[in-house]
Amino acid sequence: MTNVFRSEPVASTPPAATLVIFGASGDLTRRKLVPALWDLSTGGHLGALAIVGCARSDISDQSFRASLREGVEAHARSAVDEESWARFASRIHYFQLGGYDDAESYPRLRERLEAVRSEHNLPAHRLFYLSTPPSAFAPIAARLDAAGLTPPSEEPFARVVVEKPFGTDLASARDLNVKLQQVLEERQIYRIDHYLGKETVQNLLVFRFANGLFEPLWNGRYVDHVQITGAETLGVEGRGGYFDHSGILRDMVQNHLFQILALVGMEPPSNFGADAVRSEKTKVLDALRPVTAENIRERVVRGQYAAGSVLGTDVPGYVEEDGVDPSSVTETFVALELFIDNWRWSGVPFYLRSGKRMPKKVTEIAVFFKPAPHRLFGGPPPPNALRIRIQPDEGISLQLGSKVPGQGIEVAPVNMEFRYASSFGVPAAEAYERLLLDALSGDGTLFTRGDEVEASWRFITPIHEAWRELRVPSELYPAGDWGPDASQSLLARGGRRWRQP
Ligand code: BG6
Repeated sequence: MTNVFRSEPVASTPPAATLVIFGASGDLTRRKLVPALWDLSTGGHLGALAIVGCARSDISDQSFRASLREGVEAHARSAVDEESWARFASRIHYFQLGGYDDAESYPRLRERLEAVRSEHNLPAHRLFYLSTPPSAFAPIAARLDAAGLTPPSEEPFARVVVEKPFGTDLASARDLNVKLQQVLEERQIYRIDHYLGKETVQNLLVFRFANGLFEPLWNGRYVDHVQITGAETLGVEGRGGYFDHSGILRDMVQNHLFQILALVGMEPPSNFGADAVRSEKTKVLDALRPVTAENIRERVVRGQYAAGSVLGTDVPGYVEEDGVDPSSVTETFVALELFIDNWRWSGVPFYLRSGKRMPKKVTEIAVFFKPAPHRLFGGPPPPNALRIRIQPDEGISLQLGSKVPGQGIEVAPVNMEFRYASSFGVPAAEAYERLLLDALSGDGTLFTRGDEVEASWRFITPIHEAWRELRVPSELYPAGDWGPDASQSLLARGGRRWRQP
């Protein structure tokens, strides 16, 4: 029976195409991209697709396929059976580049893509996926253009997905935008932020804009403050060399947490098209009150984990990790007090925190509402808090005050809960599945636009500058803790405290 309250599914099978992955021998390809493609394919969501992996190593199609199979077996949601794998693998090819900036490789790549296309009888649609070190993004785009591989046409289309990090500060992000936009139209560029592919992040839009109930309360008249937490138990896991130059402000906040912030704070877009949604998100980022050298100590907490214990296991401190400078002040934790200076959010603090080596892996948003204007029942009632759990245990809960059974009136907090797992009975799809499907279908809504990325760097870069200029150290916290004490003080000043997820 059709459920009349169900809106039409928007997803349809994308057009047949060739997906060309640069950085094909890397971890992302093996752990995320190809497992996502496998799950899409076994779920019947993909049109005809050929995959061409490009990298510098000298390997054959056969050994490339074998290493991808291991990745799929370890990381995909659906199991591998011989027959379906053989069909899937027959469409995977490998192409050895002389180097990402090697002019001579690209005309050869073009020939190879033509051969693959005719072997599988495909149209000339191409999606290029840049999963390489960021220094290769612009050179690859320029070489693809010079080889005539990325014409601006829609029929056939040529699109380029750019992995993170998109720049390390405002100047480098601008520079990368300029270089990409010299050879590609903005609509051909898909800047990925895998948080936007998470079901619950998308549900934030549905939750806010498909229900009439919440939007009237979603403003500074009713909202006291908002907390956004992105916590991980992991440390730097062999990525010390990268992380030590990045820090968590760049690695998690500028991209993932700011995308969540923008979705929480944005105005309703006039439609669900890529430009309408991205314009509204950009306005939120543009309205963030700047952090300056004068106020940075009150508004930003910088922390770094020392040795400690996480989930019952002893772990070393950050500066003892491989690839990390022993005198490093790079932050593995950051907490910020933010203000969106616009009509809707005037005066409402948004607290963001993100950390490595926290007590648990959790990403959640908690919207705290103002208390009832008049107290009828004695002491302060528990706050009404709406908690949107992005991962794990995806769901939403609303904390209310309720009468405790018995004589007299005592008010205690209770929760109204919605859980994805029990309501829909299916595990959420992996973020990369949705994003690959959207890029193949030409829907840029869940990808970030050039001006949007610049808006987030415009806010973040002065923090790095002030830290450098004032030589702000990172305050130590033991691994397995919720960050340095200063993180609590950030909220305590306003009489608030972090919700412990
Ligand atoms: C990546 C960061 O972008 O996101 C990692 O580089 C981080 O440091 C990861 O661990 C977190 O993603 P998820 O999906 O596991 O929350």
